[in-house]
Amino acid sequence: MTPQAVREWVREARRIVVLTGAGMSAESGVPTFRDAQSGLWANFRPEELATEQAFRAHPSMVWEWYALRREMIAKVAPNAGHLAIAAFQQRHPGRLAVVTQNVDGLHQRAGSPGVLALHGNIADDRWLDAPRACCDAQAPEAGTPPRCATCGNLRRPAVVWFGEMLPAAELEAAGEAAARCELMLVVGTSGLVYPAAGLARSTRGRVVIVNPGATDLDDAADALLAGTAAALLPLLLDEERNP
Ligand code: APR
Repeated sequence: MTPQAVREWVREARRIVVLTGAGMSAESGVPTFRDAQSGLWANFRPEELATEQAFRAHPSMVWEWYALRREMIAKVAPNAGHLAIAAFQQRHPGRLAVVTQNVDGLHQRAGSPGVLALHGNIADDRWLDAPRACCDAQAPEAGTPPRCATCGNLRRPAVVWFGEMLPAAELEAAGEAAARCELMLVVGTSGLVYPAAGLARSTRGRVVIVNPGATDLDDAADALLAGTAAALLPLLLDEERNP
């Protein structure tokens, strides 16, 4: 299948879902999860750091890992892929929904309305345990999470960790969008993490995978486009562009 053929599917589809993962932001300079990690974190897998258990056992270490990611994300910008999606949504209000596993907020910064962020947003934090009347975050020492001076409750990143439930409203809206769409573009995800990956399996619409590598969802695809998000999405979504 060629990008030109998929452009035709985009033209025909009244409802489109773009389901994105870490590869969507790779060309903005955000490393993906399952890339080899560098430096200090080379020996950790995301499944080991991104859990409540890990945070309770090593709060400063996990907080610091997120602090570094937050700093890095604050410095990067949406890429041509994010911008092509947002521009399509502006030209065709209500026709394309973005469902993302990314916590970097780059779709929102590109101008996409109503992004369904299934795994939360790294810029936010919240209490680890249900807050009590005393809970008031104290300014942290560098490299440690803010804590309540009275009860010790900690602030934690407001992202969904392994083993945690996804936000119910977002998940339900994403399920409905997936069920109704005529075309789903699955961009930059390894397709290994559920329930997000399940959206691509549950849709009755056409499924197009945009990824430079193989994914776990390839068997569910009507078309595989081998290439990057920033190169292919403008080609697929910008009607003005010469194919
Ligand atoms: N354009 C498109 N895809 C790319 C690009 C690119 N420029 N660069 C890499 N990719 C692809 C890789 O080939 C891989 O298939 O992006 C995918 C990234 O996969 P993961 O790192 O596994 O990211 P993701 O699928 O988003 O992970 C899912 O797992 O760690 C948890 O909660 C975290 O949301 C995350 C979830």
